[in-house]
Amino acid sequence: MSGRGRFVSFEGGEGSGKSTQVERLAVMLRERGHDVITTREPGGTDGAEEIRALLVGGEPGRWSGRTEALLMNAARADHVEKLIRPALEEGIWVLCDRYAHSTLAYQGAARGLESDELIALHFIATQGLWPDLTVLLDMDAEAGLARAASRKGNETRFEEEGLAFHREVCAGFRAIAEVDERMAVVDAGQAVDAVTAEIFALVEDRLG
Ligand SMILES: Nc1ncnc2c1ncn2[C@@H]1O[C@H](COP(=O)(O)OP(=O)(O)OP(=O)(O)O)[C@@H](O)[C@H]1O
Ligand SMILES: [Mg+2]
Repeated sequence: MSGRGRFVSFEGGEGSGKSTQVERLAVMLRERGHDVITTREPGGTDGAEEIRALLVGGEPGRWSGRTEALLMNAARADHVEKLIRPALEEGIWVLCDRYAHSTLAYQGAARGLESDELIALHFIATQGLWPDLTVLLDMDAEAGLARAASRKGNETRFEEEGLAFHREVCAGFRAIAEVDERMAVVDAGQAVDAVTAEIFALVEDRLG
């Protein structure tokens, strides 16, 4: 036991580099002797991954924003209960590719749900577990979508939304960063190594 672990989430629009940077930070932290797990949302546990399949596949209009928010939070409840909270209690660092701020940006800013409702739902799902640090990988929505398009797969339900939707998401993230002091904005348009260096410096500065 080495005290409580640290919880770092990575947020940003499609293709902003979240998955790339989660893995790079994990390597750097492990080199320094930390126990680290990487995980993602929606998903991260068997049950939550089943819910993920409902959310990321199929027609864009398949769910309303409200249903989406409930499904995201159902997945998050399982993820927090079975993986994130136990890991933190064992002193393990948890690096999570998307978490609650994505719900605020996608189902809140872009789909129009009230943030008060989403925060209440977050409390029900997680008993109020927020990250120690949230890294916002900020970039132009169109440039991010162009990067994301280079990958293959069938998890395209959100990517198929129009550019206006993705601009709302990116603007939503920026607006949240202005009021959430545990959220740090990183320019995701830089070269991969420069982004990684900035994130590592932030982690050292804020989490020690
Ligand atoms: N700083 C960067 N400069 C150029 N290309 C990058 C950069 N970071 C990541 N990429 C590339 O852009 C693509 C998307 O990156 P990545 O999968 O990490 O983004 P993501 O935010 O996880 O995307 P998604 O939201 O779709 O899961 C990948 O092909 C990745 O190699
Ligand atoms: Mg990703």
